[in-house]
This record gives sequence, C-alpha cells and structure tokens, in this order.
Amino acid sequence: MSMTLEELGALASTCTLCRLAAGRTQVVFGVGSPSADVMFIGEGPGYHEDKQGEPFVGAAGQLLTRLLGEVGLRREDVYIANVVKCRPPGNRDPLPDEIDSCRPYLVGQLELVRPRVVVTLGNFATRMILERQVSISRVRGQRFELDGRTVVPTFHPAAILRGGGEASAQMAAIRSDFAAVRAILAEPPPVPAAVEEQLGLF
Ligand code: URA
Repeated sequence: MSMTLEELGALASTCTLCRLAAGRTQVVFGVGSPSADVMFIGEGPGYHEDKQGEPFVGAAGQLLTRLLGEVGLRREDVYIANVVKCRPPGNRDPLPDEIDSCRPYLVGQLELVRPRVVVTLGNFATRMILERQVSISRVRGQRFELDGRTVVPTFHPAAILRGGGEASAQMAAIRSDFAAVRAILAEPPPVPAAVEEQLGLF
C-alpha cells in the first residue's frame, strides 16, 4: 500500500461509504503503535468512542486495558481498531453492507501495521478475519495461521461485562487467551519464506 497509516486515517475521517456516516460524531479509526506486533480488533465504536474518537475507551475498553496490563502490555505498545469505524445507532450490530464498506480500512490497517498477531474480539471481528461464519465460543482457544500471521480469537470484553464478570469462565478464558498472545510475542519472529529460500542456497 502506497499510503501511510496517517493518510489512511485522514481518508477514513471523511468517509461517507455507508449510512453510519450520518449518525457519527467522528470516525474512530484506530489507536496505538503503527508498528505494533499485535493488533486487537473489536466490533465498532460505542457512545464514548464516538465522542472521544478513540476505540475502546468506555467500560469494555477499561477492561481491555486492564487485561493488557495483566500480561505486561500497554495500549501504546499494541494497535487497536474495529470492524466498523463509525458508531452504529443505539449500539446495534453492524450490518453486512456496513462491514463490507468499511473492510478496506481494516485491510489497509493490517497491511500497514503488519502485526504478527491479530486478536479478534468477539464474533464480528473473528468472522471477518477468518472469513467464516464461526461462533466465538467454538473457536476461542484455537490459533489460526493466516497470511503469515497468527490469529487468536477471544471473547469481546463487553460480553464479559454483560456475562459473569470477574469470576466467570469467560473471564478465565480471555485471560488465558491474552497470556497465549504474550507467549506468541515472546517467540522469535518467523523467518520470511523469501529469506529462508535464500539461506537454503548456502
Ligand atoms: N466495543 C468495540 O467493539 N469497540 C470499541 O471501540 C468499543 C467497544
């Protein structure tokens, strides 16, 4: 991609590709390190995100930030984005055509940040990245190798807040998934196929 993350964000900020443009306060593009090793992908901005222009700053965001801290990661070490960049009215689920309209921005973010690990939070992000109509409760705990990246699907923090909270099985699961992410990041990065090929010559 020939543009920078900042340029892509500027382009997104005036987007009118879908009906969500009409109800937003602002586009919530993404936040964090432009060269992060790990990208977290949520569903879409809620009330607070729409007001502040930053993903995951409300109650679910506070839980995400806490879970990151528990495995020694800060928000500024990672990159955080959403499937749709504008708040769906009343926090309804994003519709298929809205997800499709917004897809190029997320694809661009993945191409430009080039994270080794992608953590999909909940059904929407997981289905979009795996390109399969899976259910998060079935696929979490598994790892998927896709386009040279490791995809780690896990529960959406908001689902944990709605469900059992601190003592729930979902909370234990997300903690274990975040610990797995930490462990993957500690592994040496894979040698790119092209380099491996070259080394094979000697
Ligand atoms: N939920 C999401 O999926 N994304 C946010 O940015 C906030 C809450």
